[in-house]
Amino acid sequence: MIIQKILPHKILPLITKVINNLDSTKHIARPLIAWYAQNQRDLPWRHTRDPYHIWLSEIILQQTRVQQGLPYYQRFIAAFPTVRILSEAKEEEVLRLWQGLGYYSRARNLHACAKTVVQEHNGRFPDNFKDLLKLKGIGRYTAAAIASFAFGEVVPVVDGNVYRVLARLFGITTNIAQPPAFNEFFALASELIDPEQPDTFNQAIMEFGAMHCTPQKPLCLYCPLQAVCYAYQHSMQKDFPVKKKATKVKHRYFHYFIILNPAGEILMRPRPAGDIWRGLYDFYLVEDNTLLDTDAIKDEGIQQLMAKNSILVEESEVYKHQLTHQLLHVKFFVLQASEQALQTFTAERSQLQAFNPAETLALPKPVLIKNVLEKLNF
Ligand code: ADE
Ligand code: SF4
Repeated sequence: MIIQKILPHKILPLITKVINNLDSTKHIARPLIAWYAQNQRDLPWRHTRDPYHIWLSEIILQQTRVQQGLPYYQRFIAAFPTVRILSEAKEEEVLRLWQGLGYYSRARNLHACAKTVVQEHNGRFPDNFKDLLKLKGIGRYTAAAIASFAFGEVVPVVDGNVYRVLARLFGITTNIAQPPAFNEFFALASELIDPEQPDTFNQAIMEFGAMHCTPQKPLCLYCPLQAVCYAYQHSMQKDFPVKKKATKVKHRYFHYFIILNPAGEILMRPRPAGDIWRGLYDFYLVEDNTLLDTDAIKDEGIQQLMAKNSILVEESEVYKHQLTHQLLHVKFFVLQASEQALQTFTAERSQLQAFNPAETLALPKPVLIKNVLEKLNF
């Protein structure tokens, strides 16, 4: 089997090629289904082909684990045996049964979807993936579950379990926290699904992920897929699936005051520890939650300077400066300070020191500050 030499990778055509070289029915679908026959949990929604029941179970299971979801499923079925009865129920009643599952918009969506099925589909769920997708609150996972479990359509389910199992088997490095991952795994699962029994294959791979190829302690030693599993053969179970949340960019709003003394020197200070640019030199800084106009800046030091005959010489445009996890929005203000104003101002702010142009040039500075000084011809 050449599979281990090529992977890991994230290129779908390659996966497809590899799959074609491997008899995936023999090596993957069949062992999964055999495993499922031996190990599956006996769950009520596995004994029905009623799309309404399957839909209910899937919506509930998106919200909670199987054991907690079971009584909810049973209560819903008992209270609302058909989609028509659910559609005619009072919203309060639906919400009351949903109580404890949280995320009540899901319950409202459920109710709305039941109404649509009754009003627009004569009380019958659409019988295929494509049309199921059009219903409110039914995404690609749920549509595939209903289409395959109720109608035997050959369409794969892709949930967290499926991501994990496939990523480990094939050494897939695609980041599953990013939306394009779905299409890739969907396409791969479409290659692997057993067209003779898509419903069983789908249940099997999900159950296998939930019970056997678990996130923390996969049971590799007893695994029927060991021989074709990339993660097992490279002891990389913990490395798959790759899930990296895009780190949020933090926006910060800097008002930099380039304060000149009567001698034509600039006040600068080394940046303190615990923030960006530690030890590099910058100007007097007023940070706020948004960019402010000069009049709106309520900084004691600046007010002090302005009260004592200092002059605002220039106000820059807004600069955007991208750091790894921060985006700085920066405005510069050039301020010509009077001698009298500076005395108390600097006495209270001892980090600030005056530097002449040559000294300023020699100081270590963030690129942003260096560029602005150059622009000012200082
Ligand atoms: N979680 C989501 N759908 C499920 C199903 N059909 N069986 C077991 N667990 C599930
Ligand atoms: Fe999962 Fe381990 Fe089996 Fe690979 S060998 S499929 S990691 S349980």
